[in-house]
Amino acid sequence: MVILAGGVSASFAEAASAQDLNLICSADQAVCERLVAEFEGSHDIDVNMVRLSSGEAYAKIRAEARNPQTDLWWGGTGDPHLQAAIDGLSEEYRSPMLEKLQDWAVEQAETSEYRTVGVYSGALGWGYNTDILAEKGIEPPQCWADLLDPALAGEVQMADPNSSGTAYTALATLVQLMGEDEAFDYLKKLDANVSQYTKSGSAPVKAAGRGESGLGIVFMHDAVAQAEEGFPIEVVAPCEGTGYEIGSMSLIAGAQNEDSAKTFYDWVLGADIQSMLPEAGSFQIPSNVDAKVSEAAPKLDDVKLIDYDFAQYGGSDRRAELLSRWSREIGGVGN
Ligand code: F6P
Repeated sequence: MVILAGGVSASFAEAASAQDLNLICSADQAVCERLVAEFEGSHDIDVNMVRLSSGEAYAKIRAEARNPQTDLWWGGTGDPHLQAAIDGLSEEYRSPMLEKLQDWAVEQAETSEYRTVGVYSGALGWGYNTDILAEKGIEPPQCWADLLDPALAGEVQMADPNSSGTAYTALATLVQLMGEDEAFDYLKKLDANVSQYTKSGSAPVKAAGRGESGLGIVFMHDAVAQAEEGFPIEVVAPCEGTGYEIGSMSLIAGAQNEDSAKTFYDWVLGADIQSMLPEAGSFQIPSNVDAKVSEAAPKLDDVKLIDYDFAQYGGSDRRAELLSRWSREIGGVGN
């Protein structure tokens, strides 16, 4: 017990929680750590941060619904944030920063009745190791269809869409590009070339960077991050067209530290913070209109983007349906 002024007593947990923030961060670990360090450096709030992939974060928040342990969920693909909104797991919040945001970030808020908001965006593609493909005489794939080339057997990695928002974006993108049955046929064929379905979305291109595999299907900005670190990675935007994410942020319903969460929420939508993120290896397009866009960030105008249906593919039933079909038809094959 801690004795507070005026003889009021409280447990340590209660005393500590007044200044705490329990944060789930679903971007890259280095970015999450940088955000926490910057926030703690300028606020009197202790952040307890856990890095989880988007699907894992959704599952944790759902499991905690009766007794929320998380206050705020920053980053990760928008689809599971929308699913959390529909499921009533997140709280409506209209940040005063909304007026500083790009239209796509505000649309994400509107779609969810202000239970989530866009924090960054980025397109899906892949990164390949130029040395490995050259050594093996493999023609660098430029289109989704090229990824079925038998020469790529064992050279492709992507994440598991159950844990990873990146991989769910890939699954939903292929369904929107080809039709559902055709997309599952494609994924079955692709499975012959896949050596591993990783937990985190960016892991496949990190493995390609280290030379452990030839190619990772990832967000283009994660491939750029590897190239910027000096690894022999070339970034590709698929020729048939591709999907993209509106990385999002949600205040959790019943958050124990709602004030701390709102403080972080408003702060992290600021231009200064978003302009700083490329220093930590984050090359998405920031949502604040005044934030600096890194020269290295993939230019979305040069990418053939599909008209990704966020409302449908972030919908609870659709997401659950596609994930269970993936687990039945693909996840069990060769893993
Ligand atoms: O590494 C950053 C990033 O690609 C974000 O842009 C994205 O929201 C997140 O990772 C997705 O991670 P995961 O696929 O592990 O859920």
